[in-house]
Amino acid sequence: MASDSVTVVGLGLMGSALARAAVAAGLGVTVWNRSASKARAFADGPARVASTIEEAVDASDVVVVCVRDHDATNEALRTSTVEERLAGKVIVQLSTGTPTEAREAATWAASVGAEYLDGSIMGFPQDIGTDGLVILYGGEQASFERCKLVAAAFGGTAMRIGSTPGSAAALDNALLSIYFGFLFGVLSGAAICDAEGIPLDAFKDVGSSMMPIFGGILDRSVDMIVSDAYESEHSTLHTSWGAMSQIAAVVRDAGLDDRFVECMRSYAAEAIDAGHGALGNAVLFKHLRRR
Ligand SMILES: NC(=O)c1ccc[n+]([C@@H]2O[C@H](COP(=O)([O-])OP(=O)(O)OC[C@H]3O[C@@H](n4cnc5c(N)ncnc54)[C@H](OP(=O)(O)O)[C@@H]3O)[C@@H](O)[C@H]2O)c1
Repeated sequence: MASDSVTVVGLGLMGSALARAAVAAGLGVTVWNRSASKARAFADGPARVASTIEEAVDASDVVVVCVRDHDATNEALRTSTVEERLAGKVIVQLSTGTPTEAREAATWAASVGAEYLDGSIMGFPQDIGTDGLVILYGGEQASFERCKLVAAAFGGTAMRIGSTPGSAAALDNALLSIYFGFLFGVLSGAAICDAEGIPLDAFKDVGSSMMPIFGGILDRSVDMIVSDAYESEHSTLHTSWGAMSQIAAVVRDAGLDDRFVECMRSYAAEAIDAGHGALGNAVLFKHLRRR
């Protein structure tokens, strides 16, 4: 039966948004965060703030985890006092990770008698609870059914990709690969136009009309290059470095040739070494143009 209550472990930007959406949908919500300060925002609301992770796990059959990464999840959940409480529950991992990490987590969950769903959030915290959000899930249909109300509360489309726990993370990384492939194509094209005296506005207009799906990346990147102002509200190179490194891990784990992703990573590493890590991705243009 679908659970109408949920525990959210992790109240960073994303975990807080998930907890707020679950509250707004009328579910019974219990929250826990490692540092108590982030839970204070929930203290006067309808969510119950657990004072220990054990109390949080006891409160609901569905335990959503949204912390920094799988290592952080392991630190939080893999203690004897938490593990002994997990039997019969569904753990929904919404922290970003690789297919290998998802498989390893599913094996551990089974060893403590829990079901496991591994999700990839295709959006930002402000997208949670909106129609445009997509969350991909990998795991058994029966576990997905138990989390149906929780997944619906997060908004948009909850898409189960397959029974294998790593399937959502695999698709997520494949989609990220499209994004970075296109980004580097845009910046390399901009460097060619710049070197050959083609106005970047023409590059932007013609490119956007030919490839409307990716027009946003093209427009934003060219606007940054033209204004020579690379501050971004969307994403920094530091964040992209993490994502590229994750794709590299996925590629290597799958036994694939990693030259393409390592080439992208080498540009990102050079830009970060040059002190550009807090800027938007388009700053890589400076490095593609260098020679
Ligand atoms: N933000 C986005 O746009 C976005 C989009 C898609 C997916 N995601 C994924 O969502 C996850 C959370 O992202 P976020 O934006 O919420 O990050 P965030 O704001 O930086 O929050 C990180 C959270 O992880 C917790 N944490 C870190 N190490 C921990 C540990 N060892 N034990 C327990 N808790 C620990 C932090 O707790 P403390 O407060 O105690 O430090 C905090 O609650 C990440 O995996 C991220 O990739 C985020």
